[in-house]
Amino acid sequence: MTLLTWNHATTIGIRAMDDQHGVLMDTMNELRLAVVHGDPWEQVNDLLDRLIAFARMHFGSEEQLMEQHGFPGFASHRAEHRRLLKTLIDSAHKLQRDDIRMRPLLCSLQSYFVDHIAEFDRQYGPWLNERGIH
Ligand SMILES: [Fe+2]
Ligand SMILES: [Fe+2]
Repeated sequence: MTLLTWNHATTIGIRAMDDQHGVLMDTMNELRLAVVHGDPWEQVNDLLDRLIAFARMHFGSEEQLMEQHGFPGFASHRAEHRRLLKTLIDSAHKLQRDDIRMRPLLCSLQSYFVDHIAEFDRQYGPWLNERGIH
C-alpha cells in the first residue's frame, strides 16, 4: 500500500478543490500509517470518521460549484459522489464489525478516490477554467 501523492492526474486546476483533495489524501495517508503502525482501533476509527465527514463536505463543495456554474455533467457527477460515499460508509461499517481485512480495503478506497478525481473531477476543472474560474 503506497502513500498518495500529488501528480498530474490528481490536479484539476481549481485551487480550493485541489486544496480539499490534498486534505483527503493526507487523511487517507494518516489512516494508512495508523493501520501499518498498529495504532489502537479508536484512533483508526476516529480517522475513518474524519475521512467520511471530510469527503461528505468536499462532495458538497464540488456539487455547489458545478450547480452554480451550470456544469453539464453535474447530475452524473453527483450520482457518482453518492455511490462513493456509500462505499466509504459501508466499508467503515464492515471494519467496525471486524469482518474484513483493513489493508486491502484501504487500498481499494484509495483507488476509488484517485480514480474519481482523475475521471470525474478533471472534467469540471478545465470546463470552469475556460470560464475564468480557477
Ligand atoms: Fe473531488
Ligand atoms: Fe467529485
